[in-house]
Formats: sequence, structure tokens, C-alpha cells
Amino acid sequence: MTPKRIGVFDSGVGGLSVLKNLLETKKFQEIIYYGDTARVPYGTRSREVIANCSLEALGFFKKFDLDLLVVACNTVSAYGLEAMQKNANYPVVGVIEPGVLALQNKISNPQAKILILGTKATITSNLYQELLNYKGYKNLEAKATSLFVPLVEEGVFSGKLLGECMDYYFKDLQKPEAIILGCTHFPLIKEAISNYFNNEPLLIHSGEAIVEYLEKFYILENAKQQTKISFFASDSVEKVEKTAKLWLKY
Ligand code: DGL
Repeated sequence: MTPKRIGVFDSGVGGLSVLKNLLETKKFQEIIYYGDTARVPYGTRSREVIANCSLEALGFFKKFDLDLLVVACNTVSAYGLEAMQKNANYPVVGVIEPGVLALQNKISNPQAKILILGTKATITSNLYQELLNYKGYKNLEAKATSLFVPLVEEGVFSGKLLGECMDYYFKDLQKPEAIILGCTHFPLIKEAISNYFNNEPLLIHSGEAIVEYLEKFYILENAKQQTKISFFASDSVEKVEKTAKLWLKY
């Protein structure tokens, strides 16, 4: 199957970091982005609330006749994906399995120390940990770093405040061999995170991982024209468009 018109769903603006990678492939005719900005953040909410919000988002996409929906949000991929897949008549793809496969492609040593970062909900779901464990990786550490989300939303990508926040979360950790950036916001601070660990760990990014995944499991064709993008949000679509201009240089 060749997905030409795809949707990208996120709890807010964070999924734009995933949209960036999808756009760079030049493989899609049309991408419809929807951020549930009225209810972000999802990462501190319960499984039930996240699953319900995810189903409502699926309802939003009904009118677009999609070929495929990318759930860019790790939190939704953890708690809402199953319900969405059951209720959609097209493939709905999350970012957790692609993230684990992307790591597997790069790190074969089962003893490699892997640090998983995500929202409280993503880390509590245990999904990354279980999948990595199943793939044989045994040296895992998972850390909910929810404070990075509002910092990124505020445009804080470097500096003292972020430094203190990283210290708060990372100071007692051993240097990992790889870090899974298990939240759409974290690629925006990837330089700072990498720097904190002397630029040594390999970073796994949901956007790069989903592109690898789609290339592997679907037949992607070069788009004839520049990809058409439409932005939608449950509140203040202007904020999404403004952030898209800033993050995507779009
Ligand atoms: N987009 C979410 C994720 O990737 C993070 C933001 C939120 O808490 O809603 O997990």
C-alpha cells in the first residue's frame, strides 16, 4: 500500500518535530496535522483520559479520507493506539515500535545501557521497556522528564534553566550508550541532552524512526509536487502555525 495522504496527530505542537522528518522524505502528497492544543499536556493524564482523547482525535480525521495516520505522540502511542487501530479503517501507526526498531538497527549489544526518556504516562506504561526487553536489551533505565515539555513549549532549547532541569533528572545516572527521545518535544533539545553526556550517546528520535518504519513496511512514492500541509488544532491553530514556521522553517 502506498500512503499518499496521511494524517499526523499529536497532543499539541510537539508532533511538528515528527512532521519535519516526514516532510523531508518528499514522499507524501498531502499531510494533515492535528494537535489537541486545548488539552495538552497528555503526559500527566490517566490511561482512560488519553485513550478517550485519542478516539476523539480519530473522529476529527474522519472527513479527510486518509491512507494512513501517524500518531506522533509517544504518550498516545502508549495509551491510545490500540483503541484507534480498532476503530480506524486505515493503518494507524504509533512511534514506540518504530523507535525500538530504529535502536535495534543501530545497537546490537544486549548489554548496552539504554536510557528511555518520556512523559510520566509513557514511562509508566512500561511499553518501551517491555518491547526493548523482548528484543533482548537488559540494561535499561527509564526516566519521566515531563518538565522538558513546558520548557520546549516556552522556546527554552538551551541555557541555565534547561541545564538545571537536566541536572535534576540526570545527575545520578550513568552515561548511557543510547537515549530514546520518547517524547515529541525532546528532539528540540537534543543538542543540550547530547552535550550533557559529552555527545557520546546515540539518540533515537521518533521522527527519524517513523520514517525508517514507513520506508520498511510501506511502498512510498516520490510526491509529484511539494507536499501540501494543512494544520488543525482544537485550540489556537495560529500557535501551531507559528511554531511550525519556527521549527520547520516552513
Ligand atoms: N507529545 C507528547 C509525547 O510525545 C508530549 C506532550 C504531552 O504531554 O502532551 O509524549
